[in-house]
Amino acid sequence: MKGLVLSGGKGTRLRPLTYTGAKQLVPVANKPVLFYALEDLVEAGVTEIGIVISPETGDQVQHEVGDGSQFGARITYIPQAQPLGIAHGIKIAQEFLGGDPFILFLGDNFIRGGIVAQVDAFRKEAMDAQIILYEMQDPSSMGVAVMNGDGRVQKVVEKPKQFISPYAVIGIYMFGPAVFDAVNNIKPSARGELEITDTIQYLVDKGLNVRAHNLTDAWVDTGRIGDMLEANRLVLEVMQAQNHGTLENSVLEGRVILEEGARVINSKIRGPAIIGKRTLVQDAFVGPYTSIHHDCTVRNCEIEHSIVLENSHLEDLHTRVADSLIGRNVHIQRADGHAQTIRFMLGDYSNVGI
Ligand code: TTP
Repeated sequence: MKGLVLSGGKGTRLRPLTYTGAKQLVPVANKPVLFYALEDLVEAGVTEIGIVISPETGDQVQHEVGDGSQFGARITYIPQAQPLGIAHGIKIAQEFLGGDPFILFLGDNFIRGGIVAQVDAFRKEAMDAQIILYEMQDPSSMGVAVMNGDGRVQKVVEKPKQFISPYAVIGIYMFGPAVFDAVNNIKPSARGELEITDTIQYLVDKGLNVRAHNLTDAWVDTGRIGDMLEANRLVLEVMQAQNHGTLENSVLEGRVILEEGARVINSKIRGPAIIGKRTLVQDAFVGPYTSIHHDCTVRNCEIEHSIVLENSHLEDLHTRVADSLIGRNVHIQRADGHAQTIRFMLGDYSNVGI
């Protein structure tokens, strides 16, 4: 089996971070969310992987993932000139995929329990496609599946206006070669994309064997800030404490990971939390579910339940930052000499709550 990971797209919901960076490279517990997908594929025995990339962020993805050897995989990059839909990603990967069955993994989807069970089921039974379903109270913003009694998919509807079933279709799919007939025959939707729901419905309408696996472990589509924080929580919850940094007059409570060269001075860190390489935490409090990436400074302030990307500096705020996603090379400081003044230079679409 091969793997196909979609790492292009527009990422409009994660602006402004996605003006300069790929959303699939936003770190979860200091590791790009895309890396979890690649690790899940390799764990399921899939090492021949194609990654669909966009002209805007493809270079960054290639720089981070490289040839795949760091994951024990072999990567082929497949450029997509425009984000014409998830099914379009399959269409342009046809040559790479050949006639092999494959797993399609959306590069911004995070699944805590991996995909070994689902891949095993797909390998054992002669299916044309397998989708993974996640039960939700309100799946109306997703593709939703209706099952018939014998475990086969009866229909899939994108963002149904009326409740038809609680089963959302998540961004990990398995296909046999019949899918190429589908992606070459469906028409673009009203938003101009070749839709994955139409692809699955096409296979169902042809009477092919499309089955579903019900997920019981956690899954997150990291398209928005709240989802990124949730994925971060899920990973930090199961990480073990490690100390590769240095501590001076400081306290670590619970599970805290200090990466190489991290320095903690006159501070308290309450895990689960991770402090990245060469990052300085001084006269500060870092609370639960916080990931601070490499080469950052957190000084004279408190932060919890947040993600800070690399090379960012939070200094002299004397207040608590919470529920935040802070991009790369950001400086947040108190304006000189004015205890009550905060100074901003914020990019388009920034979102600040005071
Ligand atoms: P989406 O989250 O559906 O789309 P998007 O990335 O454009 O984001 P937004 O809705 O915030 O504008 O995409 C799911 C995944 O598939 C994501 O990793 C991007 C990728 N993708 C492609 O690689 N090519 C495409 O044409 C599309 C639509 C998505």
